[in-house]
Parts: sequence; C-alpha cells; structure tokens
Amino acid sequence: MATQEHDPFAGAEGEDEDFELMAPLLVAKLQEAGISAQDTKKLADAGYHTVEAVAFTPKKTLCTIKGISEQKADKILMEACKMVPMGFTTATEIHSRRSELVHITTGATGLDTILGGGIETGAITELYGEFRTGKSQICHTLAVTCQLPVTMGGGEGKCLYIDTEGTFRPVRMLAVAERFGLNGEEVLDNIAYARAYNADHQLQLLVQASAMMAESRFSLLIVDSCTSLYRTDFSGRGELSARQMHLAKFLRTLMRLADEFGVAVVVTNQVVAQVDGGQFAVADAKKPIGGNIMAHASTTRLNLRKGRGASRVCKIVDSPCLPEAEAIFAINANGIGDPEEMKEQ
Ligand SMILES: Nc1ncnc2c1ncn2[C@@H]1O[C@H](COP(=O)(O)OP(=O)(O)OP(=O)(O)O)[C@@H](O)[C@H]1O
Ligand SMILES: [Mg+2]
Repeated sequence: MATQEHDPFAGAEGEDEDFELMAPLLVAKLQEAGISAQDTKKLADAGYHTVEAVAFTPKKTLCTIKGISEQKADKILMEACKMVPMGFTTATEIHSRRSELVHITTGATGLDTILGGGIETGAITELYGEFRTGKSQICHTLAVTCQLPVTMGGGEGKCLYIDTEGTFRPVRMLAVAERFGLNGEEVLDNIAYARAYNADHQLQLLVQASAMMAESRFSLLIVDSCTSLYRTDFSGRGELSARQMHLAKFLRTLMRLADEFGVAVVVTNQVVAQVDGGQFAVADAKKPIGGNIMAHASTTRLNLRKGRGASRVCKIVDSPCLPEAEAIFAINANGIGDPEEMKEQ
C-alpha cells in the first residue's frame, strides 16, 4: 500500500538494475566512439539528448544543426546506429518487450477495462471531443496516477504537462492525490508544467522535455490541447499545408519521445463541424482537428461525449490491438471515476 511517505521514484535495488537495461543512453556516450565533446554538445543543444534520438533521426535533419557537416552526420549516425539496435528482431523479442510496457490507470474501472488496463506507455493516445467532455479532467487524473507504483496501476514516474489553454488546475490534482493516499506536495513537485504560447513554442518545449526525460524518470507527457494553437497561428486554406507540416513535425517528435523514453503521451484535441461531408453527411457530425496527419500519428484514438449528469462516454475509435468499445465514466470531485450507477451494483 502507498503511504503518505511513499516515494514512487525510490525503487528497490533490483528494479534499478532493470531500469538501467532499458534506460536510454545519454548522447555524451558517443564520445566513447570517437565523436568529439563539442559535437555531442551541439547535438544536445539541438534537442538530441540521447543516442536513441540521434539514431532515429534522418541524416538530412542532423545536417541542419549548426556545425554538423554531412561527413560528420554520417559518422555520428554510423556510431549511434551501432549502439542502438535498429535492425530486424524476432516477434518473440517484441512480445516480451511489449509485456514490460505498463498501462496507467484512468481512475475509472470501465475505461481501464476497455483500454486493456489503462493508457498505454510508449505510445500516443488522443482524447478528442466537444468542450466539457472531460478531456482536461482525464489529463489531471493521469498526471497523478502515473506516479503510483506499477502494482497500483501507475507508471512510477513523473509527469510533464504542456498546457495551451490555461486550464491547468493543481487543486484538481491535490484532490486526486488524496484519493490515492499520496502526499499532495510531492505529487505536485513531480509534475513539470509549461504553458505554450504559440505553435513554435509548443514544439520548442519538446526539446526541453527530452532533456528532462534523459535526466529523470518520467512516465507521462500531456499536451492539452495539441491542436488549439495551430488553429490560431495558421488560418484559412492558404496556410493549411504549412499548418499540417508543422503539426506533423510536432507529432513525430512526440512519437520519438514515446519510443525513446517509454513514456505514455496523451494529447487532447477539439472537434469541428464537418463541412466537406457532402450530401450524405450526418446532420451535426463533428470531426477531430488535424486531418489525416493527426489520425495517423495517434496510436489510440478515444472519442469522448457527454452522458447523463456528470457521466461521460468514451469510445475507442482506432487502436492497433483493441476492439471498438464504449465505456461510461464520471467526472467526480476527486477526479475521473466510476459513475454512481456502477458503484451501486
Ligand atoms: N471539481 C469538480 N468536480 C466535479 N466535476 C468537475 C470539477 N471540476 C470540473 N468538473 C467538470 O468537468 C467538466 C469539464 O471537463 P474538462 O475541463 O475536462 O472539459 P474539456 O473536455 O477539457 O473541455 P474543453 O474542450 O473546453 O477544454 C465540466 O462539466 C465540469 O462540471
Ligand atoms: Mg480542456
């Protein structure tokens, strides 16, 4: 049981060893392969804090870093790829690696059940729906549950929260912390918060995020909302392709962080009225923003809608291994939970 003194980051010794095995390699490690300290610093300054980050980046992109020539990029990539396994492996190996991935509890039993235990780590989960459907409330609950021990449905790591709408409320997290018997002050200390003011800034914050993740154990990265700044920074058809390219880059960087650090990435998204549905469009059909780029980038897409009173309905719209399913949850004073009807049963 977690007590008030419980520190989710002080793992037992055996667990530390396991973590070493999975932990990403810091970019300075490339110095052992003959890359100069100046060059590894240039990589880190550009947001590549781990050897994995370098290995997963196309050469063309590395060459855009100031002071990294084409020859240097070739050498850096060659050495990075030697340190990080990049070739084929067996399904058995992947199966065993995937069984180590944990799920983070949403706080609602029905929701966890259809999600196979909760929000998946190492992947991007998108929550989309109209206003007041509970997107931000789910984020607030997850920011606390991700800190719980694995045995309690947590990810034993800190949370990084990027807020674009100014709806971040620590008081909501204190309520959730109390419910799970965690020390409120510690819980808030383990949540790193940043407000993003424009799309460029939002992308730039991921550079800092990767530096922080290389330094200590994070289990969750939240972007609430992922698309709102894109709506304001880019307008009209004329800027659509620029907007989609920028968004694609942002989402690719998120995917890289999920892969590299095994963190769960949760993004929220708003919906807009479907205008191009033609004569067969459902009267008030709403679709998530971001088009195909957003649809392809999210590993799992969840659609939220209002139910009766405080209850909300969550539907799995797209997932690589979960069937389409719906679950009812409630927004309670102490975070996301089960609706009253379910509790009585
Ligand atoms: N302390 C609380 N106790 C119970 N319910 C709450 C509490 N605080 C907020 N809510 C409920 O949460 C809902 C708002 O949810 P949330 O902020 O997650 O919406 P959202 O989907 O993020 O909307 P938007 O698109 O506007 O960002 C409201 O219906 C509100 O009544
Ligand atoms: Mg919100």
